[in-house]
Amino acid sequence: MSKLLDGKVAVITGAGRGIGQATAELYAQHGAKIVIADIDEAPANETLELVKKAGSDGVVVTGNICKREDCDRIIKAGMELGGGSIDILANIAGITRDAVIHKMTEAEWDFVIEVNLKGTYNMIQASVPAMRDAAKNETDGMKPRAIINVSSTSGVKGNAGQINYAAAKAGINGITRTVAKEWARFNIRCNSIAPGFIETRLTSEVSDDPKLGVPEQQMQMIKMMYSQTGLQRPEGMGKPIDIANLALFFGSDLSTYVSGQVLVAAGAMIDSY
Ligand SMILES: NC(=O)c1ccc[n+]([C@@H]2O[C@H](COP(=O)([O-])OP(=O)(O)OC[C@H]3O[C@@H](n4cnc5c(N)ncnc54)[C@H](O)[C@@H]3O)[C@@H](O)[C@H]2O)c1
Repeated sequence: MSKLLDGKVAVITGAGRGIGQATAELYAQHGAKIVIADIDEAPANETLELVKKAGSDGVVVTGNICKREDCDRIIKAGMELGGGSIDILANIAGITRDAVIHKMTEAEWDFVIEVNLKGTYNMIQASVPAMRDAAKNETDGMKPRAIINVSSTSGVKGNAGQINYAAAKAGINGITRTVAKEWARFNIRCNSIAPGFIETRLTSEVSDDPKLGVPEQQMQMIKMMYSQTGLQRPEGMGKPIDIANLALFFGSDLSTYVSGQVLVAAGAMIDSY
């Protein structure tokens, strides 16, 4: 297998679980060094083990992307790994607090906007010295750099029960297109991936966070839909690796002429998006 990220340094938020963890492992298999950033330390440490097993290395930085000073620490760790700059920022951390409109609390609205939308903004702004400014100082040709934001099909088409999440994820796509335009001159690309249902803690029926997950009845419906249009996934849903593979494409030099895009990854559920 030829390695697509040899010599690159990637900062990945939400790298302790699910899509972020799969992306960290795949990036490590492709030669990247990784800053494994997550609010929870134990799963982040598990990811570091996977990164090492894959033959690469990295560091764990625990932090909350809602706090700008934590984002600065995460980026600083990347700059230390990368000799003053980073090559890839993958904003994967995210959270849900589902409720229909008439039942949603202000706290649920604020929390989901804060983590998904402001957290993504915070990380990008914190990355200015590591990406924009570093590129500006590369007088003999700017290296290709990439930002990958994880949106959702909810942010593209809306989703009943997710007004907070749909707004945050649609906002992320606005961020993606804006960064793509502002930072193109620095050879920095910015793309969104909008997954459909992927089997992780966010979509499991039971998890360590009682406020996450999808109710049993809704899950049955989703599995039925996906078994028909989910491209032969036996359980009906996609896997974290399905999204990690796209993060690899957007992070690698295979996509150096692609920016500002929102790539929906939801099997063959194409008519819905
Ligand atoms: N699973 C799906 O079906 C699906 C669909 C569409 C989009 N997404 C998005 O994919 C991304 C990854 O989700 P996942 O499904 O792998 O979920 P997950 O819960 O398995 O992983 C998310 C990780 O983010 C971390 N995190 C949460 N809040 C954080 C914060 N404030 N600061 C730092 N880290 C934080 C968590 O600790 C966790 O390890 C999220 O942005 C999510 O919204 C998931």
